Amino acid sequence: MTVLHIDASINGENSASRAISRSIVDRLGSATVVRRDLVSEPLPHLTLDAFADTSVLDEFLAADTVVIGAPMYNFTLPSQLKAWLDRILVAGTTFRYTENGPEGLAGGKRVVIALARGGFYDAGSPASALEHLESYLRGVFGFIGIEPEFVAADGLAIGPEQRESAIAQALGETVRLAA
Ligand SMILES: Cc1cc2nc3c(=O)[nH]c(=O)nc-3n(C[C@H](O)[C@H](O)[C@H](O)COP(=O)(O)O)c2cc1C
Repeated sequence: MTVLHIDASINGENSASRAISRSIVDRLGSATVVRRDLVSEPLPHLTLDAFADTSVLDEFLAADTVVIGAPMYNFTLPSQLKAWLDRILVAGTTFRYTENGPEGLAGGKRVVIALARGGFYDAGSPASALEHLESYLRGVFGFIGIEPEFVAADGLAIGPEQRESAIAQALGETVRLAA
């Protein structure tokens, strides 16, 4: 089993999403882990020329499981992660348009996403309308035929106690995910 491990947090060793994604990858116990750190090695913004280089797409297609650390920045995903998504949503390869509407072509792959958010965005909460991270990633992966699984650490900016307990709870959930 090939695992592709992606991180996008700028917070280095203090990053919650990195700690949780690492825990998921460790628990999956795969001998083959391909690493893509979008902060230490950022992808440039998309250009038409960039479509000629399919290395990022090929790496995604070759993976059986993709584990992504996804922090919330300004209510959505880091632009580093958007640059990666811009290279894997490719018409004719990961999706196509048919007479019956769009069809995802990347099914059969497992995608597990570690979310880290400073606030709370549950349905009915005051900020729920600003949640464009989990909802966006669910929509984008759904579009290419994948239903992603999520582990979330929320309220990380509320205070040290909430941060500690939210990360501990998310790390605990990684046991269930890897089972
Ligand atoms: C530049 C920046 C923007 C942020 N914007 C938001 C935000 O819009 N909403 C939110 O809930 N938290 C926000 N946060 C808080 C992060 O989501 C939180 O610190 C989380 O732990 C980041 O993930 P990480 O620990 O993996 O880096 C922001 C943090 C940074 C550094």
